[in-house]
Amino acid sequence: MEPDTTRSPSGRGFWEQRYRDEDPSGPPPAPNPAFTALAGELSLVPPPSEGSRALELACGRGGDALWLAAAGWRVTAVDIAEHALSALAERARRAGLGDRLDVERHDLARSVPAPGSRDLVYANYFHTVVDLDRGAALRRAARSVADGGVFAVIDHGSSAPWSWEQRDDHPSAEDLWRSLGLGAGWTLLVCEGRSRLARGPHGGTATVVDTVVAARRRAGGGERA
Ligand SMILES: C[S@@+](CC[C@H](N)C(=O)[O-])C[C@H]1O[C@@H](n2cnc3c(N)ncnc32)[C@H](O)[C@@H]1O
Repeated sequence: MEPDTTRSPSGRGFWEQRYRDEDPSGPPPAPNPAFTALAGELSLVPPPSEGSRALELACGRGGDALWLAAAGWRVTAVDIAEHALSALAERARRAGLGDRLDVERHDLARSVPAPGSRDLVYANYFHTVVDLDRGAALRRAARSVADGGVFAVIDHGSSAPWSWEQRDDHPSAEDLWRSLGLGAGWTLLVCEGRSRLARGPHGGTATVVDTVVAARRRAGGGERA
């Protein structure tokens, strides 16, 4: 079925509809295994310090933000969809993580949270139904990574059979890294496609590919917020 993007040029209508029935009293969303593996590899869990701050872009139901907050991070989770954010805030409150997880609604094509100094800025599957200069949005957000902090993006590198988007032209990790345009001032830590076995929302499994890019800001490097 073609997604209905007609109600909002930003695609917000599609996402609000998708999260409309989100029930914060239901089981919490699981974190993305590709993200938890990356966090382990980069020694991000436990967080580098007591006050470590993370920013998640396009958090959706917020499984990754909840997981990081439970591990001790202070997380700001951003999405365009109010339905997703209000359910996530309520889930965080019920899990006793309300003081560790804030939500902010932004259309990332237009705005990002106020500048700050963050030890981790990341986006997992920030894919949408309308044309968006995603590279520019991600670059804007990367400006708030602190010296020594990490910027990470995980994209779909294949279409799972249950995905709303079926395509066979997924950009490579190298394409993704180039599209970010971060350049000098960053040390590239991970840039690769990774396969894993995934379970669909209604059962069934399939091998999927995640495109994973992570970079660390060098001291004094890169453009600032
Ligand atoms: C494919 S979902 C991924 C959600 C979550 N990160 C995950 O891994 O499950 C894409 C998310 O991007 C959000 N999104 C789409 N366009 C956006 C925009 N312009 N600004 C902020 N969030 C946006 C959607 O609301 C949706 O939650």
